[in-house]
Amino acid sequence: MSKDNSIYSKIIPLVIAMTVVVLVGTVITMAMPLLRDDMHPKLESTKEYTAIELEGRNIYQREGCVNCHSQMVRPLTADVVRYGDYTKAGEEFYERPFLWGSKRTGPDLGRNGGKYSDEWQIIHLKNPQKFFPQSNMPSYAFLDRPANAVDAEKSMKSLKYTYTQEDIDQVANSTELEALTAYLQSLGSDIPDNMYVKVEYSDYENTMAPMSIVSPETKVAFVDNCAGCHGTEGEGSDIAAPFSDVIPADIIDGNLFVSIANGIPYTMPSHIGIMTKRRIWELALYAKELANKKRTAIISTTNTDMSSVDSSDKK
Ligand code: HEC
Ligand code: HEC
Repeated sequence: MSKDNSIYSKIIPLVIAMTVVVLVGTVITMAMPLLRDDMHPKLESTKEYTAIELEGRNIYQREGCVNCHSQMVRPLTADVVRYGDYTKAGEEFYERPFLWGSKRTGPDLGRNGGKYSDEWQIIHLKNPQKFFPQSNMPSYAFLDRPANAVDAEKSMKSLKYTYTQEDIDQVANSTELEALTAYLQSLGSDIPDNMYVKVEYSDYENTMAPMSIVSPETKVAFVDNCAGCHGTEGEGSDIAAPFSDVIPADIIDGNLFVSIANGIPYTMPSHIGIMTKRRIWELALYAKELANKKRTAIISTTNTDMSSVDSSDKK
């Protein structure tokens, strides 16, 4: 029997040769493409973080918000309808480290920018249960303390982002809650009109008129979705003016419907992804009804006030 002299019979050289082949393969198929520009897409609108946004991001990491919130809208209908346009690779250019997350105890925040006003964000961070009584999000009221400008400058330097002394001063003059809010308002805003689902012009006519009686379900929907900002009777709050001030008696119903359905950027979130059009129509008419009721009540209390003033004058 002839002795097999090929490499296959020599264990150590064989292992070395295999390692070399696998490594060369790895470098060519994995590492080399990393050097190509098209592996790092960047949208034209994607900007570096500003100092205050980056400091907010540091706070977001430090407080572990990523344990309850993802930042990636997946290209699935359910995600897109609820959160808006799905997350593009090109938006993630400056995400170091990325904060995509894998746990959604709370909603995805990938498109949170512009969904609410700054005031709402701060009040919600201090007391999430004010808007959502069943929320298990903890209170971050303790972040109402000065933000760390030194930390912000170090982060800006290490990521080689451009900044001015004014940007750093802005951090020094802000609270951590304000920095966090600046960061949240930047999320997903590279795609300006990012709400994927919107009501169309053809929905603008109230096909459900006349609808004079507000169903009990609509009142429940109002308490669940609207009362946190508008008050249970539409009387307003720190965030929104009373309905009686913003809804004139002669308003076109379709205007209310479109505002509630699509939302108003940096003011009111959109609702078309979370309820039916019919429910939105009902809520629009209910809001109008609340505004009119309040106006009538104001007129009658003004009258009683006048009479009480009169009688006290006589005393
Ligand atoms: C224990 C889990 C948990 C943690 C930790 C947490 N959240 Fe939340 N968050 C929630 C839940 C649940 C909701 C939905 C109810 C609500 O709005 O309170 C929510 C809602 C939100 C919303 C509103 C989202 C929307 O579209 O309505 C924002 C913004 C938010 N969280 C930011 C933060 C930030 C910033 C942090 C870290 C400082 C944080 N959360 C930490 C659970 C959490
Ligand atoms: C995050 C807070 C928030 C939530 C939640 C919210 N709104 Fe609003 N809404 C506002 C603010 C702020 C305005 C602007 C009013 C103002 O100038 O104060 C507004 C405006 C409106 C208007 C007037 C729109 C116009 O075109 O003039 C209506 C009607 C309305 N909201 C109804 C609703 C209804 C119904 C819901 C629940 C489905 C709701 N809102 C949920 C904050 C909110």
